[in-house]
Amino acid sequence: MITQEELNHLVEIAKPTARKGQVASYIPALAKADAHDLAAAVYREDGTLISAGQDEKPFTLQSVVKVLCLALAIMDRGTDYVFARVGMEPTGDPFNSIGKLETRKPAKPLNPMINAGALAVTNMLHGATVQEKLGRLLAFVHDLAGNVSIVFNETVASSENKTSYLNRSLCYFMKQHDIITEDVDETIDFYTKMCAIEVNCRDLARIGAVLANDGNDPESDRKIIPGQIVRILKTFMVTCGMYNASGEFAMRVGMPAKSGVSGAILGTVPAGGGIGIYGPALDEKGNSVAGVKLMELLSVQYGLSIFA
Ligand code: DON
Repeated sequence: MITQEELNHLVEIAKPTARKGQVASYIPALAKADAHDLAAAVYREDGTLISAGQDEKPFTLQSVVKVLCLALAIMDRGTDYVFARVGMEPTGDPFNSIGKLETRKPAKPLNPMINAGALAVTNMLHGATVQEKLGRLLAFVHDLAGNVSIVFNETVASSENKTSYLNRSLCYFMKQHDIITEDVDETIDFYTKMCAIEVNCRDLARIGAVLANDGNDPESDRKIIPGQIVRILKTFMVTCGMYNASGEFAMRVGMPAKSGVSGAILGTVPAGGGIGIYGPALDEKGNSVAGVKLMELLSVQYGLSIFA
């Protein structure tokens, strides 16, 4: 089991690689992040949580929320409903690509981890209003993280909403093809707010531990997500979690993981542990450079690849 000293050490080794990346700027509010930050938390199999670096620093979930939104959508609607509207195949295209929507018949997004798929999934959550859907999703995040103080960051949400031209295009395209049924502005309103849910790396590691524990709260053992849904989530994390770098990540790290453009990475360790990382300098595919490096160091050092 990893010790506090070992985690401190690995964070120090991974940190300089952040120089090779850049913070996301297409969402203006994210451009204010400090590119040199690197924070990591590990929820260990014995139920203890350790963390290193800027571990109290809040960051938004961004695409990491797609895993949680999918879980709730399947719990609300069942797998048949969800996968009639969104596919299960990885894509070699960037996370915000519109290309495949036009060339594939029917115009169903390839998977729920790319923006098109996640936008379709946000439409599926039960709730008559954006507020009701967001309230349900936040309550779910509170359960997963064991932290009822988690809220969304209004500045980041409105910054993204004002500049969501491409995501709006994806929505209008899917609305034309009946994949999206709700109002596009409301879909974008909910989507940008859920992407702006703010956590720190310790919260994220706790969420990873729930996934690693088959959907059970690691402290109380209460079931939060049914086991067969957790299996679906982890499979998507392996095949699509790091976008068009998922293949290379599977080779180098081999852990179910999900990244976000804030620099977040959520990871699960088969034996019951969770990993939460924040490193806002990204590579050209939108994944945290130092975060991926740190995941690789952890995987190699502790034999965490599920393929080993
Ligand atoms: O829709 C977007 O572009 C962002 N809210 C989330 C994208 C994202 O995190 C992609 N991740 N690497």
